[in-house]
Amino acid sequence: MPSSKRQVGDGPRYNQIGSGYALNRREDPNLYETIINSLGASDSIVNIGAGTGSYEPRNRNVVAIEPSDVMIRQRPFGSAIAIKATADQLPFHDKSLDAAMTVLSIHHWHPDQKKGIEEMRRVASQKLVIVTIDPRVSGRMWLLADYLPEVAELDHQIFPLPEVIGDWIGATVKIETHLVKRDTPDWTLMSFWAHPDRVLDPHARASTSGFARQPKHVVERVVSNIERDLHNGDWDRKYGHLRHLNEFDAGLRVITASFDA
Ligand SMILES: C[S@@+](CC[C@H](N)C(=O)[O-])C[C@H]1O[C@@H](n2cnc3c(N)ncnc32)[C@H](O)[C@@H]1O
Repeated sequence: MPSSKRQVGDGPRYNQIGSGYALNRREDPNLYETIINSLGASDSIVNIGAGTGSYEPRNRNVVAIEPSDVMIRQRPFGSAIAIKATADQLPFHDKSLDAAMTVLSIHHWHPDQKKGIEEMRRVASQKLVIVTIDPRVSGRMWLLADYLPEVAELDHQIFPLPEVIGDWIGATVKIETHLVKRDTPDWTLMSFWAHPDRVLDPHARASTSGFARQPKHVVERVVSNIERDLHNGDWDRKYGHLRHLNEFDAGLRVITASFDA
């Protein structure tokens, strides 16, 4: 395909599902802090699959890579410059930046995830920070295990295991579990662990690619089953203990690799 006609990654998907993203997918301050700590002293940073700009370090030199116009348009005034490109072809020279980061984007690079990680490794001289999901853990959460096995199954295909990402990087990596707080403002599918009623909210569903990628009949089935189980008390009988927890391991992982400059 000539380069001018090349499809830019999942950009087209986010051009369809990304329109309300900035509303429900707001930056989680705890995850922001973890990312900042993981980046260490890195100053020049590329954020890949940057979306609307959440988690982009402030007071550092950041450039964003994002294939979707709809997402780029939601970036607030004053956020980092965004280049429309994809992870598998980063428009930078070798080791021209201190660090490369990506937050909840790698599953959208399928099937080019390995190439994307190699690109991150190529352009960054000091640090890689990758926020992703371990599908073995996320698949155990009630929503995926009992109501939405289609997403659990898809996740196993599109989320590389953290240790596989480590192998692709080719260096020792630190893999940290990041617990998802009950009140996180970033309404990822993982945040639903504490909010079964959120499944009934079409806007909340629409800003998760997990729901947005499912056919209408699957979404309708899940909504109707949750509505029934909340109404008849089955959800609370089985999962009511979650209402007393403040945070939960829903599979979120922060992978950090450090290199000598
Ligand atoms: C779930 S959003 C995450 C956005 C942001 N990082 C955040 O945490 O809010 C995933 C982003 O990855 C982008 N994306 C999809 N395919 C991509 C690719 N091949 N390379 C880089 N980014 C991609 C999408 O357009 C979307 O903005």
